[in-house]
Amino acid sequence: MKKYINPNLLIDWNLKETETDRKRERNGGYRWKSPSNLAIIKYWGKHGNQLPRNPSISMTLQAAFTETQMNYYLATGKNQLVTFSYNGKENKAFAARIIRFFDSLRPVFPFIDDFEYDMYSTNSFPHGSGIASSASAMSAVALCLCDIEREHFGTLQDDEAFYEKASYVARLGSGSAARSVYGGWTEWGTHECDPSLTDYWATQLTEIHPSFQHMKDMILITSSAEKSVSSSAGHQLMEGNVYADVRYQQAKDRIPLLLSALKTGDWGTFGKIAENEALTLHALMMSSEESYILMHPNSLAIIEIIREYRRETGHHVYFSLDAGPNIHMLYPAAIDIEVRKFVDERLEQYCQGGQIIYDQVGIGPERQESDLGIYSSFVQS
Ligand code: DP6
Repeated sequence: MKKYINPNLLIDWNLKETETDRKRERNGGYRWKSPSNLAIIKYWGKHGNQLPRNPSISMTLQAAFTETQMNYYLATGKNQLVTFSYNGKENKAFAARIIRFFDSLRPVFPFIDDFEYDMYSTNSFPHGSGIASSASAMSAVALCLCDIEREHFGTLQDDEAFYEKASYVARLGSGSAARSVYGGWTEWGTHECDPSLTDYWATQLTEIHPSFQHMKDMILITSSAEKSVSSSAGHQLMEGNVYADVRYQQAKDRIPLLLSALKTGDWGTFGKIAENEALTLHALMMSSEESYILMHPNSLAIIEIIREYRRETGHHVYFSLDAGPNIHMLYPAAIDIEVRKFVDERLEQYCQGGQIIYDQVGIGPERQESDLGIYSSFVQS
């Protein structure tokens, strides 16, 4: 995809009119609040430069987000390209990941080495709660970089162009992050149903039934232990998985079914796909050459109880899982009060320390007011 390889995005400092101009443009900062997302049809398996083996569809979350302040300064060559602190503490491991991400971005943003970057980041969800943070973290970084491009080159002025590029860039940091730059529901990956789709960036779905626009996602934290196998390693293991090809085809076949369910408000079809996708993801982990299990005994206990409750009440209450042990319980907003009561009585006891995140379909990333001087209070808040 040549569209975003742009050797012209180089700053010619000599063309800046006055010394004041030059000074002003040497320093700056942007700040974005960007959400995590939950895939209903899962991206699991990749190739080339962060390209998915199959298309995926996700809902953007609202309560689970990362907020990142990115400050940039004209590079002196003396400092590291990126420093990164999380909750006020320097995080060298994550800085190294961002540096690798920036390395992959040189053809897209040739100006990247003109600056050094300090990033300050916080998550709304508790550290170690097992919520995938790479989607929210990498999309926040991508959005800040697109703002720097817009400021220095006058490009990406219209929102469509801005978010499409942000999605392209976020994908290079973490595949699922490509879907986090939009609110509501998002689709990523080529599919024969719609020739306008691409593997290079995600797009927002527009035809969504109101009951899915306001869907609830109650995240039941069964274990906050660090994952034993990263998602990146999991994607890698799909290369030798005997079920891989059948799985990729299954995901492709499900796309039109899920799109139609989301459009018409067909909760039965939605729930069947959501639950089967979650269990298939974990079955693929268990059946890979190096087998591993990320579910916790309490994950299974909760799944059983959700299914029992559904049988008893006929309510549309379903589950999904990410690459971890926590359960995402999905249901229409109209039955929220009843479902909360059910959770208090029957599920809370299976959550570690009673931890639950009350989430729902979200509005997408929001640019925050950037203030270079306030990052110290920001990281403490
Ligand atoms: C199970 O996006 O975390 O959450 O591209 O290696 O960063 P990388 O992987 P990542 O994988 C997400 C996998 C998933 C399913 C999904 O979000 O579609």
